[in-house]
Amino acid sequence: MNNEQCVIETRNLGKQFKNLTAVNKLSLSIHKGEIFGLLGPDGAGKTTTIRMLCAIMDPSAGSARVADFDTVKEPEEIKKRIGYMPQQFSLYGDLTVLENLVFFADVFQVGRQEREDRIARLLAFARLTEFKERRAAHLSGGMQKKLALACTLIHSPEIIFLDEPTTGVDPVSRREFWDILTELHLQGVTLFVSTPYMDEAERCSRVALMFEGSIVVCDAPAHIKGLVEGELLELRPDRLREASRIIEKLAGVLEVQTYGDLLHVFVDDVEQRVSLIQEALSEAGIVVQGLRQTRPRMEEAFISLIRKRTEETQL
Ligand SMILES: Nc1ncnc2c1ncn2[C@@H]1O[C@H](COP(=O)(O)OP(=O)(O)OP(=O)(O)O)[C@@H](O)[C@H]1O
Ligand SMILES: [Mg+2]
Repeated sequence: MNNEQCVIETRNLGKQFKNLTAVNKLSLSIHKGEIFGLLGPDGAGKTTTIRMLCAIMDPSAGSARVADFDTVKEPEEIKKRIGYMPQQFSLYGDLTVLENLVFFADVFQVGRQEREDRIARLLAFARLTEFKERRAAHLSGGMQKKLALACTLIHSPEIIFLDEPTTGVDPVSRREFWDILTELHLQGVTLFVSTPYMDEAERCSRVALMFEGSIVVCDAPAHIKGLVEGELLELRPDRLREASRIIEKLAGVLEVQTYGDLLHVFVDDVEQRVSLIQEALSEAGIVVQGLRQTRPRMEEAFISLIRKRTEETQL
């Protein structure tokens, strides 16, 4: 690796399952201490990418280096230095919180002297000290995730890979989990996190949006939001589909997206176009509530970029 601060590097990394290209020509450089987000819908190729980076699965094309070791030629060196929290992390349900940590300390051969101190620190870090005698099966979903994270950290890895660590967890626990990840980030650990949640992308130093095996965009969240053209209007019309069809055809309208009962409309210039939209809808007898200008979030940016990508590939 040319840049010694670069701790994960892939070159045209690919994985083929028969006719399906699960990961396609992935080239990424991730620096030490980054909190890197891999974002994408179901089946985008996130888990396959992480498995290749954790040296569990060999690529069909290209190569990857993690902690300056090749994932195919030096997998054992990598496994010593990384933590991996799989999408379906298996805790031992009939073991207590403490017993689970001791079990993983054994697996990772953490010495007797070190482990006591380290387990105490991890319990405090994961806010689980008072639950240490509780069986893992009796913990809430959010607490199970925190215990899984603590087990992943038992051998003090330099780089951790987390595959959808907060999926299925309530919003309060999700936030707490991310606070813990931020603490790790501040300690200098490199984090590689996959998530289907757009709001979590905002917490990352950089994010890559993956779609059908390819990276659509990879940048800092603020830059990605800046890639969306135009200004954004939000409105709640009473006949959503019809309103969307009418607005799409108006001059100056770049894109219309639907979010539940809301429409998000990108226009070239809000001041110039807002009355045009209002008039067209009122002519059609559509009642509009809550019309306001708003700022694009990650979600709007990603949907817009994926749509452009799909249109390009269909041409
Ligand atoms: N072992 C396998 N054999 C065949 N196909 C596979 C295998 N593993 C994954 N796939 C396919 O590769 C594609 C990418 O899967 P992957 O699990 O990497 O996606 P993902 O982004 O992690 O999705 P999710 O959000 O559902 O976890 C999917 O179409 C999946 O069905
Ligand atoms: Mg997955």
